[in-house]
Amino acid sequence: MLGSVLVTLGAGKSSSLPRLQLSYRDLLATNRSTIFLGPRGKLDLRALYLDEYRDRLFLGGRDTLYSLRLDQAGPDPKEILWPPRPGQKEECILKGRDPLTECANYVRVLHPYNRTHLLACGTGAFQPLCALVAVGHRGEHVLSLDQASVEGGRGRCPHEPDRPFSSTFVGGELYTGLTADFLGREAVLFRSGGARPALRSDTDQSLLHDPRFVGAALIPDNADRDNDKVYFFFSEAAAPPEGGSGRAIVSRVGRICVNDAGGQRVLVNKWSTFLKARLICSVPTPGGIDTYFDQLEDVFLLWPKDGKSPEVYALFSTLSAVFQGFAVCVYHMADIWEVFNGPFAHRDGPQHQWGPYGGKVPFPRPGVCPSKTTTQPGRPFGSTKDYPDDVLQFTRAHPLMFRSVLPRHGRPILVKTHQPYRLLQIVVDRVEAEDGAYDVIFLGTDAGSVLKVIAFQTGKSVQPEEVILEEMQVFKVPTPILEMEISVKRQMLYVGSRLGVAQLRLHRCETYGNACAECCLARDPYCAWDGDTCTRYQPSSAKRRFRRQDIRHGNPALQCLGQSHGGDVMGITEATVVFGTEHNSTFLECRPKSPQATVHWFVQRPKDEQPDQVKTDERILQTEHGLLFRRLNRLDAGTYSCKTLEHGFAQTVARLALEVIGAEQLEGLFLREHGEEESISKNSASVPSRAWYKDILQLIGYANLPRVEEYCERVWCVDRYRRKGKQSKSKTWLGTDLGKKAKSRAQGERNRTPREVEAT
Ligand SMILES: *[C@@H]1O[C@H](CO)[C@@H](O)[C@H](O)[C@H]1NC(C)=O
Ligand SMILES: *[C@@H]1O[C@H](CO)[C@@H](O)[C@H](O)[C@H]1NC(C)=O
Ligand SMILES: *[C@@H]1O[C@H](CO)[C@@H](O)[C@H](O)[C@H]1NC(C)=O
Repeated sequence: MLGSVLVTLGAGKSSSLPRLQLSYRDLLATNRSTIFLGPRGKLDLRALYLDEYRDRLFLGGRDTLYSLRLDQAGPDPKEILWPPRPGQKEECILKGRDPLTECANYVRVLHPYNRTHLLACGTGAFQPLCALVAVGHRGEHVLSLDQASVEGGRGRCPHEPDRPFSSTFVGGELYTGLTADFLGREAVLFRSGGARPALRSDTDQSLLHDPRFVGAALIPDNADRDNDKVYFFFSEAAAPPEGGSGRAIVSRVGRICVNDAGGQRVLVNKWSTFLKARLICSVPTPGGIDTYFDQLEDVFLLWPKDGKSPEVYALFSTLSAVFQGFAVCVYHMADIWEVFNGPFAHRDGPQHQWGPYGGKVPFPRPGVCPSKTTTQPGRPFGSTKDYPDDVLQFTRAHPLMFRSVLPRHGRPILVKTHQPYRLLQIVVDRVEAEDGAYDVIFLGTDAGSVLKVIAFQTGKSVQPEEVILEEMQVFKVPTPILEMEISVKRQMLYVGSRLGVAQLRLHRCETYGNACAECCLARDPYCAWDGDTCTRYQPSSAKRRFRRQDIRHGNPALQCLGQSHGGDVMGITEATVVFGTEHNSTFLECRPKSPQATVHWFVQRPKDEQPDQVKTDERILQTEHGLLFRRLNRLDAGTYSCKTLEHGFAQTVARLALEVIGAEQLEGLFLREHGEEESISKNSASVPSRAWYKDILQLIGYANLPRVEEYCERVWCVDRYRRKGKQSKSKTWLGTDLGKKAKSRAQGERNRTPREVEAT
């Protein structure tokens, strides 16, 4: 069964290959990314706060806080040390914790506290602590820990450096979802730090079952502040019969009223408005059994311009031991509200099935915040402390909603299986393009890379089409991406791993190439062809006169018709001459920019009228990088064209005229050259011997002089060129040493003719 599930998930229109792969070096070389690793070469990062108001980036590390400027003044990194309290490190070690990875103050909470201070909390070597950090007014670059403000942080920060945890700061109070004890067993939702008494959930309330928190945020219902609620997103262990098929883990959205004050006699200083519902993200399969993505990995709230309510983008993973899959589902707040307004889940006992609660629901309806609606004449419920006991008892007994929240269109917008990496983080940007808005999804992997993806509905198909625009290796070594924040204002992504933080541009349109067709094939909503170059698409720009973009179809034939720049780069007509020696191996290189393009090789032999498609066998192999002749035959001589096809758009990427030198001819040359070299070695060993030169000329004719130069350059003069720092730049090469192939992928080099090579 699972086999067929895999097939269905893997199939479909979507290509799992990224359109463009950018290495760590590529990103640095083009200023696409800059990396901050701190003064010790590693941050041990645990928290990241992007401060758009102050133009700063605050980072929480191991015993350290950092501040970077994001404005024109440059990063100007500042750091302050914040170790655990005296003696705590030793105590932590005595209690059997790891001195290297646990007994330090890992800063895990960073929130804006007021106009001049941040609230920071750390694990304090297994004794959490919080403090205020002075960061200065806007424009100042200050960072100092307010020592007088240091206090215990239990319930506000986990004891462990790595346990999943989330928090949000609302109205001077910190809301946390965490395990608050030394042993990591007591899962609670906690609110503290304000003038009101702290509020918490109790283990006896059974609100949470071994939860794994991924997000917390204030999401208002409407303009009435009384109805404001804080939402938590998490996965937890399921009560056995839930979900029918005995799922072990389910994902949840839970919420509490900001004005919850607990009960008066029941639920004193405990949540009296907590409710939770299941989030479903599954793919229907033809067999009728859905594939579920049960574990929540991350959540991103996409707030529209009008700011009323966000769309919830959630990244899930499967828990299957058989295959690893990831999916992104999108939820509307309206659908979440509807589930919370629907029936409560009820069962008569642990052995019974869950059903909708059918009895009378008390007033005020459990989970509703005290507001004007609940404060009716004769029913003065202005605070949860006024709620009748039966309401609180009901809330305590029925925290779960019966219905589940289904995603937009009932299915994921993105499914990833069979990937060599895990997906851990999600961030979304809504981008205005020529034909409407696109949600560009950035996904952080466990391999230090970020995927930039778009997904959209095409035609009547229910299955969305997805395009991986770019795969970017942000960190030099594979390391899980644990934090991701977007700055739409700056058009940057801040990507954090244990190692450090990268500032990554959301787009770099020039990377796609300098032809209309290439810009169009990129299908990047950020970019458009403006008549001259591939540049950032500005929907509101006055310079709108000329915009070519086709995200849905990526069809350059339609978009780039009559574009002068479209033609000359694409249509390579002149062939580069390549020499090969008989019986030896030779390689004809052809690397299409996009791995999504399919490659076909054609050969036109001297006596043929029409080019033929190259027949590959065990002697001639087609590889990702080109055509490999394992043993060259005289009859292989001819003009080879490498053609790519992408979205119906065909182009010739390389044309190579292969000439084969007979084995016996070359052998003779070698013998003579070695004899002569000894006699001239006193002059300079790297000067090619004159006799050899002459013989080659005879062999291939004087008309081909430039090609001889090139041949020389490749085969015998490599050392000389290297020493001059003028490494051979041409893409074609000879011989058997496959490892020496040119790495450069620059566009212009494809067109270099032998004459240009000679000129260098
Ligand atoms: C990258 O930035 C540096 C410094 O700002 C600049 O000198 C360099 O030209 C830039 N390189 C590219 C490829 O934009
Ligand atoms: C922010 O809070 C700190 C600590 O209570 C206080 O010292 C500081 O004056 C406050 N800043 C502002 C601008 O209110
Ligand atoms: C073929 O390649 C081998 C290994 O590099 C080399 O020793 C030999 O001389 C080459 N033969 C010819 C004919 O170039």
